Amino acid sequence: MRKPIIAGNWKMNNTASEGVALVKAIAPLVKNASCDVVVCVPAIDIPAVSEALKGTNIGLGAENVHYAEKGAFTGEISAAMLKEYGVKYVIIGHSERRQYFGETDETVNKRTLTAIAAGLTPIVCIGESLEERETGKTEEVLAKQIHEGLKNIDDITKIVIAYEPVWAIGTGKTATAEQANETIGFIRKTIGEMFCPKCAEALRIQYGGSMNAGNCKELMAMPEIDGGLIGGASLKAPDFAAIVNFDK
Ligand code: PGA
Repeated sequence: MRKPIIAGNWKMNNTASEGVALVKAIAPLVKNASCDVVVCVPAIDIPAVSEALKGTNIGLGAENVHYAEKGAFTGEISAAMLKEYGVKYVIIGHSERRQYFGETDETVNKRTLTAIAAGLTPIVCIGESLEERETGKTEEVLAKQIHEGLKNIDDITKIVIAYEPVWAIGTGKTATAEQANETIGFIRKTIGEMFCPKCAEALRIQYGGSMNAGNCKELMAMPEIDGGLIGGASLKAPDFAAIVNFDK
């Protein structure tokens, strides 16, 4: 049985003090969660939020990590810097990073290998654009992102994959539960062929893209969907808690 994992992705929202207030509001609402609960927060919020999360069942995540150990990479954050504050998870290859910051499957791969080596759990994002879906290229695009972004990983069960169709992110347009389930099934099959079928069975794959309190139950009822990466709805405590408590 795969344990579901619900992760918030705050993106560029919440100052450190706003972030602390938010996690303080979330914590009591999710304390009986049966899934893993994570908040991925802006790097500068990490010290304060890390402190505020002490004694809670909420894991801390970052939104990116650099692949080098240290050095001349102005503006970047290393795995060791994250680890010092108790960060456990890190989002890698979000479509916004691919679209606006030149992230490629190659850099996704490098960041993922570095994160695993440092003992962080990468949440690696993959997904197709609307044009790619409409022209029947979804599987081809995902297979390339998987083959190039996840190569040379020793133990694929050390990562989490987030399947996020780009057309569903922040648009209010969710993939139907069946669409998401079918595509995640394809991702699992591809991972099984690339690594091993047993590893693919153990690997957690989230859905992301306009997941909210209203649609989470239907999505989470699907056999292939092991959780969610939540953007907009993770910024309000009751909404995020309702998703975390999807099974209550
Ligand atoms: P959204 O974002 O829930 O606001 O669509 C999801 C994400 O980008 O991770």
